[in-house]
Amino acid sequence: MSDNPYKDDRGNKDLSVTDPSKASTIEVDPGQSAEPVPVGEDKPFLIGENMTGGYGKGADILHDCTVSVNKGEIAVIVGPNGAGKSTAMKAIFGMLNLRKGRVVIDGKDITRLSPQDRVAEGMAFVPQTHNIFTSMTVEENLEMGAFLRRDDISATMEQVFELFPILRDKRKQAAGELSGGQRQQVAVGRALMTQPKVLMLDEPTAGVSPIVMDELFDRIIEVARTGISILMVEQNARQALAIADKGYVLVQGRNRYTDTGKALLADPEVRKSFLGG
Ligand SMILES: Nc1ncnc2c1ncn2[C@@H]1O[C@H](COP(=O)(O)OP(=O)(O)O)[C@@H](O)[C@H]1O
Ligand SMILES: [Mg+2]
Repeated sequence: MSDNPYKDDRGNKDLSVTDPSKASTIEVDPGQSAEPVPVGEDKPFLIGENMTGGYGKGADILHDCTVSVNKGEIAVIVGPNGAGKSTAMKAIFGMLNLRKGRVVIDGKDITRLSPQDRVAEGMAFVPQTHNIFTSMTVEENLEMGAFLRRDDISATMEQVFELFPILRDKRKQAAGELSGGQRQQVAVGRALMTQPKVLMLDEPTAGVSPIVMDELFDRIIEVARTGISILMVEQNARQALAIADKGYVLVQGRNRYTDTGKALLADPEVRKSFLGG
């Protein structure tokens, strides 16, 4: 048996992860948000709560937006272009000054922490673009991912290579020479090198073929099964909601629908407006 913690027998689109019986409701601070936000039974491991803010001195992009994920679960954010999905991810990672709201990880308020300090708290973020160092080798990219660590990183790198075997074969190649899907593997692998508790992925399957997308989702499920929480923005909404414990539909910086992935996929309104029917 493999000692790789990412390996188990979960399959692609395993709908057992979308368990509607887990759905419940938390009360949010009255006066801050009109609607209680449905979450899993346990308190969320990571929550960006009632987030309001924008870029610099510009207008607010997020309006009382709440996104969360439970331990070892997969939460997916979908919505039209420009809805603020990437902005919500950046806000949670500390790249945006929030005017209102807070970010809490494992019960600790980290709203005022820098992105680097959030990494130390267990957060890893793979941005939508420019998420690898193209002129560096695959191996150097993974080493860069671990730059905050002072311990031996070889076992983690071995786990990444077991999760994404192609990266082992190409470890001495410049990452910029790899295919789109392989580059995304490098980006996810780099993020895993910090041994995060929560992995945030902004459109990890952008520009890859459906087969590569399925494979990447399989790997993401494997990562979640090790207890790492996954918060992911996806434009392949149907496929992503099919593996999601919880889904968020954002529109114009606001929460429009929040439910289990399964329930959102079954909702006629969500299907009509956001999933192409
Ligand atoms: N760096 C930025 N500076 C100012 N405005 C931005 C920046 N990035 C995004 N925006 C604006 O924020 C809004 C939401 O963008 P974004 O979060 O990227 O949407 P999505 O990821 O859902 O497509 C858009 O109106 C976009 O023009
Ligand atoms: Mg985006």
